[in-house]
Amino acid sequence: MEFTIKSGSPEKQRSACVVVGVFDNRKLSLSAELIDRASNGYVGEIIRRGDMEGKLGSTLLLHNVRGTLADRVLLVGLGKERDFRDREFRKALQSAVKLLNETGSYEAVVYLTEEKVKRREVAWRVEHAVAVAMETVYRFDRMKSEPAEVRRPLRKLTLSVPQRSDLTAGEKAAARGLAIAHGVELARDLGNLPGNVCTPGYLAGEAAKLAAEFPELKVEVLEHGQIEALGMGSFLSVTRGSDEPPRFIVFEYRNAPKKAKPVVLVGKGITFDTGGISIKPAADMDQMKFDMCGAASVFGVFRAVAELKAAVNLVGLVPTCENMPSGRATKPGDVVTSMSGQTIEVLNTDAEGRLILADALTYAERYEPEAVVDVATLTGAMVIALGHVACGVFSNSDTLARALVAAGDDAYDRGWPMPLWDDYHEGLESNFADFANVAGRAGGSVTAACFLSKFAKKFDWAHLDIAGIAWREGKEKGATGRPVPLLVTWLLAEEAGPG
Ligand code: BES
Ligand code: MN
Ligand code: ZN
Repeated sequence: MEFTIKSGSPEKQRSACVVVGVFDNRKLSLSAELIDRASNGYVGEIIRRGDMEGKLGSTLLLHNVRGTLADRVLLVGLGKERDFRDREFRKALQSAVKLLNETGSYEAVVYLTEEKVKRREVAWRVEHAVAVAMETVYRFDRMKSEPAEVRRPLRKLTLSVPQRSDLTAGEKAAARGLAIAHGVELARDLGNLPGNVCTPGYLAGEAAKLAAEFPELKVEVLEHGQIEALGMGSFLSVTRGSDEPPRFIVFEYRNAPKKAKPVVLVGKGITFDTGGISIKPAADMDQMKFDMCGAASVFGVFRAVAELKAAVNLVGLVPTCENMPSGRATKPGDVVTSMSGQTIEVLNTDAEGRLILADALTYAERYEPEAVVDVATLTGAMVIALGHVACGVFSNSDTLARALVAAGDDAYDRGWPMPLWDDYHEGLESNFADFANVAGRAGGSVTAACFLSKFAKKFDWAHLDIAGIAWREGKEKGATGRPVPLLVTWLLAEEAGPG
């Protein structure tokens, strides 16, 4: 989809559709008011008849409104004016875009971006309008023999800003929103692909493709022999049961001064998690194709950052393999030696994410990083703790945790702080190795993060447990592309200068 920024009166737009808001209860927004005046009170009349109350997300499409130059006028309910915040703004836009995409308009001029949103500037509104629009028209039909065609898809949106002096900021924000949306799209595509297509080798190929597209982006792919030579015994213990060879993907994007230490992102890339010998129950096991969504979000971040030519130094590490049972698979009770030298008693082979991340975190040391952030669909317990709204933010640096939470708030892709207190470490004690890979059921997402922290002592580090937010279940089943918006927003804020 294409986006442009404009400033001007709604009644003067020559367009297939002009989109204006109505507040609950029946209160016209300024742009709806202008259409109403130009049409001699036609909009007000319709509203008085009770066809549009202004309920959040409701829509009413009007044709040939006299006094205007557009073919259609779309009224969109904004809810109560004093409650019009991030969520309401995004919901209103989503309803508008959904309707536009399903009816006759190829393009439209949207005035919702002129409405005041608490705590947000015009740039925020434009960025989010673009991101929401892209997200709303997203379809994944690559695996269908005949893609269901949208008859007259929405091709172009013009977003209106209140003043001509807002145009430059608006254009910059639109570019940001579009880059984030492209990153989200890539993460969703990779996440939605089935496990028989999206293998470790496939991910490595996609990484190479991405690098070919952007000159500042380099990719290196390590294979089994090289991974072994590095001493990644923890990572390799997970891949043992699989016939699909593992990969260790290294992204490098450098576009800030050489001396600026890089941020390292680490993504869990389990392309399918059966649980291994500690096998999972059959119900819903298909969802474990999404167990590489952490990795997919790292891909998405690189795509967005490279598209924006952001002035950052960024490294991405993606350990990727399958977790399968077999005669060669790692067994409960096996002891493995990680790249750090620490030994691990694998009490449960289904706690595999932390095993592959452990070695990736150790590998990160060689970059003397500014900060390391790992992203992983790590624990079912995370879904119980924070549901599908926020990811868990665990960190050994309060400053880093705060910056990530703040970025999540700006991006409407939220994370919430979780503890890493020493008291939680006790459960990981082992009689046979330095520690075990699981503790009891209680506080499962915290003890998992505690396990990771044992491999992240040499740098500022945060762990995002995205098990609850990386995909949706039910009718709308599919990858969300989160937390690409959070991470890109954080990196761009760092670009502007940390603190
Ligand atoms: N990939 C799963 C975590 C997961 C489960 C994410 C369900 C989303 C929904 C992870 O590898 C796993 O299996 N974790 C175990 C850990 C346990 C064995 C300590 C879990 O959460 O049950
Ligand atoms: Mn598992
Ligand atoms: Zn897993």
